[in-house]
Amino acid sequence: MPFISPPILRHLRSCGTLLSLMAGLALTSPNYGLAQTTPKLGINEVKPATTVINPNGADKFFDRKELMPIGAYYYPEAWPARRWERDIKRMAELGFTFTHLGEFAWAAMEPTEGNYRFGWLDTTVALCAKYGVKVIMCTPSPCPPAWLSAKHPEIQIMNAEGRTMRHGGRLQGSWSSPIYREYVKKIVTELGKRYGNNPTVVGWQLDNEPSHGGAHYDYAPAAQTAFRAWVKQKYGVIDSLNKHWGAAFWSNTYTSFDQIRIPNDKESTAGTNPHQVLDFQRFQSQEMGNYMRDQTMVLRKLINPKQWVTSNFAFYKFLPEVNLYDNKDHLDFSAFTFYWLSTYLDNAPGKLGYRLGSGLGTAFASDFARATHGYTGIMELQPGQINWGAFNPQPLPGAVRMWVWHHFGLGSKFACTYRFDRPTYGGELYHYGIMDPDGVTPSLGGKEYIQAGKEIASLKKLYNPKATLPADVAARKVAILWNQDNLWDLQNYPHTNQWDTWEHVYRYFSAAKRSGAPIDFVSEDIVLDPAKYPTAIAPAYQLVDAKLVARWRTYVEQGGHLILSCRSGQKDRSGQLWEGPYIDPLRNLIGANLDYYDQLPTNATSTLAFAGKEFSWNNWGEILSPHAKPTYGSPAQVWGQHTSQFYAGKAGVIHRKVGKGSITYNGTDSDDGELELAVLQKVYAERNIKAENLKPYFFKEWRDGFWVAVNYTSEDQDANPGPNAKFHFGSRTVAPGQVAVWTE
Ligand code: GAL
Repeated sequence: MPFISPPILRHLRSCGTLLSLMAGLALTSPNYGLAQTTPKLGINEVKPATTVINPNGADKFFDRKELMPIGAYYYPEAWPARRWERDIKRMAELGFTFTHLGEFAWAAMEPTEGNYRFGWLDTTVALCAKYGVKVIMCTPSPCPPAWLSAKHPEIQIMNAEGRTMRHGGRLQGSWSSPIYREYVKKIVTELGKRYGNNPTVVGWQLDNEPSHGGAHYDYAPAAQTAFRAWVKQKYGVIDSLNKHWGAAFWSNTYTSFDQIRIPNDKESTAGTNPHQVLDFQRFQSQEMGNYMRDQTMVLRKLINPKQWVTSNFAFYKFLPEVNLYDNKDHLDFSAFTFYWLSTYLDNAPGKLGYRLGSGLGTAFASDFARATHGYTGIMELQPGQINWGAFNPQPLPGAVRMWVWHHFGLGSKFACTYRFDRPTYGGELYHYGIMDPDGVTPSLGGKEYIQAGKEIASLKKLYNPKATLPADVAARKVAILWNQDNLWDLQNYPHTNQWDTWEHVYRYFSAAKRSGAPIDFVSEDIVLDPAKYPTAIAPAYQLVDAKLVARWRTYVEQGGHLILSCRSGQKDRSGQLWEGPYIDPLRNLIGANLDYYDQLPTNATSTLAFAGKEFSWNNWGEILSPHAKPTYGSPAQVWGQHTSQFYAGKAGVIHRKVGKGSITYNGTDSDDGELELAVLQKVYAERNIKAENLKPYFFKEWRDGFWVAVNYTSEDQDANPGPNAKFHFGSRTVAPGQVAVWTE
């Protein structure tokens, strides 16, 4: 199960005032004069290259006309050998075309050091071949065996309190431990040699939900050493680190890289340095990437190039410390996991929301995972009730089927469920599988998963390779601009307990979904092309530099329509404020100054008038002054005006034309996302682009010529199909938890 404890160093929230001083004062400290005139004090980027290794994309591995094959995790090492054939045969009969083996089975693969036992796995793979079930083979690195942890306790991570994690859980192997990395490479080598040319094995999953689970970060000596080396590589000279970490504040100043430690609030009487924390987060995620890259490099030498390599990331709200882009250069694509009824993610409002689950979260997870390589697959799809929510409701009858269909609509190349066999022992008792505990009867959710798989397979005969995205839908396409640093820095330093970066991004993501827009997340390594992305949204894009702002200007001048939201451009890449007016590098782009911003307590609201309606907010609101004579482009029009508080009458949302495109700045984070929707729809309307206006949590997706509508709301919804719609499943009116599938 994913871990749900707070992402990082929460104490930062409680010492916001001190830290804001810290960020502000650091810039004006005398050190900075010195630093600015010394060219040596720069940064060497220590990010992996983000080249895509497989230019053919998904088509090299996945046959489009197979649409979305279904599969399930299976754990032969947990069951007596007599069950294996029965279970694999049953999978095949029920329509599963692949299974997933081995991710936690290191102790079964190598019971004592160097003593490899793959007989059980050979037999299972041979049975899969016999019944036509393909295999995703996994590396067992999340679970170092007891003999390894006993021989080398130092391979286990240390938590913030200085406690070394011990054998018995999972994900405790330290990415920074050279010893652990060597042992992992050895077992991966054995697996690669054995299965790298087995035609039943179609792909590889590295590790499991790569992370350190509930511990989140590693503070062990090996991680301290690696962090020191990382910052040395990044800054070269210690004065550069001092500059970028604002170390003059509180005498943080270092005189040698040997003095550097991982920032840790448990070792501090007064918080930690936010610039250092941001670097540590970058480092830890890259360290995970390095550990995964080791495994890929071993496999690539041994496996057939037809076998793909991925991992099953849980990056969204559960594990924000994972930056998918740190694995972009070596994996073929990013896969992901999702649990709708975890109770820790957002549900649709309405009486059935808790049974229908986090439709927005799952759409976000899929669109986001697709960003690194242009395609994705869902690796763990909840097959029914789980064991680790605050409470664990039964899904609404129909919901499991709807979840599978939702991922079909989102374009998933496959759907795999955790798990086929329901566990009868271990830490996940009560977790549903496709089978009931007797191993032979499909469970409630299992039946629906199988049904959805068969329904999707039945559409293969209608697959039309020439189908293209309808032009009116393509016109709505939105790029959501993403850099994980923004998420980290905003979450580290929210500045108000009302602020939630995820919710802010979700409001724009939801606005685009509700408008019926195809969405791509776009990172800074991609040049934004207005022909591909007529509209781009940069939500709370806090960390910028002049180069990025210049690229945004070019995008707009060439015809792009850019929407920037509040908190964008407040800081430099180290997370420091500008020595100048607020959002200094952005001012000329948006054609306005940001005079000041406001935050309100939970029991107060403020209002803003936009397009003839009033919207309320209390998280974050900015007060803007448009420039009468902008340095380029036309003067900004005031689209939204504050209508309460002492700034009533001042601008809150502005819009202006620049070159062939436009730029819109919305300085307000609304309570319910309706303002964000209205802003996007007005940006469309300016260009006469017709948008849908779907209810939140009612989703409509187009994939390979098929329209799919799924309903997470508690009321019937109208799929509003085109006049020539032919329904294959469901009908125009979609009941809660139900699906409609049609072609036009
Ligand atoms: C996932 C995890 C699986 C399993 C599952 C239970 O997050 O990857 O191994 O624990 O949760 O729901």
